[in-house]
Amino acid sequence: MPVQPLVFSDQDLHARNTLGLPAKAAVAVLDDESAIPALCEALAAGRNGPIGPKGQAADAPLFILGGGSNVVVQAQPRHRVLRVALRGIRLWDETADHWIVEAAAGEPWHGFVDHCLSRGWLGLENLALIPGTVGAAPVQNIGAYGLELDQRLHSVVAWDLRACREHELRPDECGFAYRDSLFKRDGAGRWLIARVRFALPKAWTPRLDYPDLRDHPGLWGEGGASGSGKPAHATSAAPSPRQVFDAVCDIRRRKLPDPAVLGNAGSFFKNPVIDAGQAAGLKQRFPDLRTYPQADGRVKLAAGWLIEQVGWKGRRLGPVGMHERQALVLVNHGGARAADVLALARAVRADVQERFGVDLEQEPVVLD
Ligand code: EPU
Repeated sequence: MPVQPLVFSDQDLHARNTLGLPAKAAVAVLDDESAIPALCEALAAGRNGPIGPKGQAADAPLFILGGGSNVVVQAQPRHRVLRVALRGIRLWDETADHWIVEAAAGEPWHGFVDHCLSRGWLGLENLALIPGTVGAAPVQNIGAYGLELDQRLHSVVAWDLRACREHELRPDECGFAYRDSLFKRDGAGRWLIARVRFALPKAWTPRLDYPDLRDHPGLWGEGGASGSGKPAHATSAAPSPRQVFDAVCDIRRRKLPDPAVLGNAGSFFKNPVIDAGQAAGLKQRFPDLRTYPQADGRVKLAAGWLIEQVGWKGRRLGPVGMHERQALVLVNHGGARAADVLALARAVRADVQERFGVDLEQEPVVLD
């Protein structure tokens, strides 16, 4: 069968971004990997019409969109949007110690984690309920509850759209850092991630470094844990993978707003990482400051705490606000546009900068 060329057409993105911002753009849907080489050629030749809603040129830059959970979408972006809808999960290989599981980039992340758990491919439970797609996971190196994606990654199969070549990138080639990667730094139009492979340990042990998780009553039967290990009254010997998964889902549901109910893009800022000297000075002035020493000697601060201290927790500006239970999450109370979101982000950043001298970096990318 000949490969159908991708066609861009005007589409509504309102339901395709978890902040729920209104937008119309020229969108093509990629649901078959075999269309990628022709896409590369067409991009190089500047012929991937039709013209977008603003009368965009056919060579308007490309923006690769996954689940839309880490993006602030302008009403009429100048970019053309390639929405990745590639599906499929399979056991790709195994070694003596690991299952190597491969998932297509368009698979919804949480469904993938759940599927792995049901097949006995363990080790992703701490990353349950994170919105977005498998392909977006390496872009921002998702992390939660004591686990970062790069710790479970085997490789990323991605097309470099500029060179029109497919690569298999190993973790040390992906430029991972806290909430950052080569794919993010190079911009949302360069790398088209097609598949992601995970190395999941055959010998599973729970990762319970994060205190809220370690102490979750669902892991230990009645009463919950205290301290750093199994509590004396625990009814089970050790938590099962499903218990860890359920506990992570429970913690997230309690703290974080469901984007289906209240539009949001998760953490709107990264936790800032500053010099040890600056952190020590701040700690003197603000003894309650939350500080997390990093391996490189620098110190990570809790952005949610900083934002709460300057009074933005639960406070609104127009149709948007910072969430009442987690100040790091910017929410759309209804009817917001990108400009409202960016105005609030500027106000919060300015107040944190004024009080603490710390610059907050926005986490979601802007589709303009
Ligand atoms: N805090 C406050 N006020 C707030 C929020 C947080 O004082 O309104 C304090 C907490 O008391 C705690 C500290 O800040 O001492 C850290 O808070 P939390 O454990 O909730 O985690 P976080 O640093 O705010 C990060 C990730 C989350 C992830 C959690 C759990 C980033 C930018 N965010 O949040 O990721 O779920 O850790 O691992 O690193 C996301 O990216 O969308 C996301 C939710």
